[in-house]
Amino acid sequence: MDYLAVNRNAWNQRTEIHVESEFYDVNGFLDGNCTLNDIELAALPNVKDKSLLHLQCHFGLDSLSWARRGAKVTGVDLSDAAITKATQLANQTKLDAKFICSDVYSFTEINNHQFDIVFTSYGTICWLPCLKQWAEVIASSLKSGGTFYMAEFHPCYDLIAGYSYFDKSHPDIEEEATYSENAGDETSKVVLWSHAMSTVVNALIGAGLSIKEVNEYPYSPYNCFEGLIETEKGKYVIPHKGNNVPLVFSIKAKKR
Ligand SMILES: C[S@@+](CC[C@H](N)C(=O)[O-])C[C@H]1O[C@@H](n2cnc3c(N)ncnc32)[C@H](O)[C@@H]1O
Repeated sequence: MDYLAVNRNAWNQRTEIHVESEFYDVNGFLDGNCTLNDIELAALPNVKDKSLLHLQCHFGLDSLSWARRGAKVTGVDLSDAAITKATQLANQTKLDAKFICSDVYSFTEINNHQFDIVFTSYGTICWLPCLKQWAEVIASSLKSGGTFYMAEFHPCYDLIAGYSYFDKSHPDIEEEATYSENAGDETSKVVLWSHAMSTVVNALIGAGLSIKEVNEYPYSPYNCFEGLIETEKGKYVIPHKGNNVPLVFSIKAKKR
């Protein structure tokens, strides 16, 4: 199966839905709202004048929010619809950001820059079959001394949702609707891979990155899964036998 074609088609469909959604709130962004969460803002407090590569940037709201904070942004995504919308928003807001349509793994074939920061967040690695290859792309895209930062949904949630915590030899192939409130009945086929925390950490170490910090959070900043309960504004939890399930993890690493 051509998993890239299947997932590109799904993300092109999802982009059309997301652009119109309250979940993404494009008008709020155009009015000046920052779409980044406290988790990643605390981890990368100073991006001014830094070159920042955003892998799997979707239609660019987070990328453009980094640009508003002074970063010189390059966003990369598989979905041509997402990249078209991101480019349109960059032109409209006149922010310092450019967007490239590419599979993560092919990006090194068309890129000859190295960046101060490589960033990726929330719902990215499940679309990639091999994290060793992903980590090599990150390492080769960073300048020496550069920072990699990711905030991602925790694989413990996959377990709760009925998927594997651990990596498997085959992906899950699903027919599913998207997560924004306006999803309706429209579904698309998606191909997804499970990755354990150890797989992520070991892939980054294997690519030569030096891990500085790993954090886990008992909440999601997004209301995007079944069973979430909002306990504070913008913090959604899933209680399990009286305790909260870890829903997000983050990793900060440096290239030597
Ligand atoms: C959940 S979204 C990214 C989340 C982002 N935080 C957001 O909500 O704006 C996942 C993105 O990964 C992209 N994607 C999936 N597979 C990819 C691949 N192989 N290479 C590059 N981008 C990919 C999709 O097109 C989609 O835009």
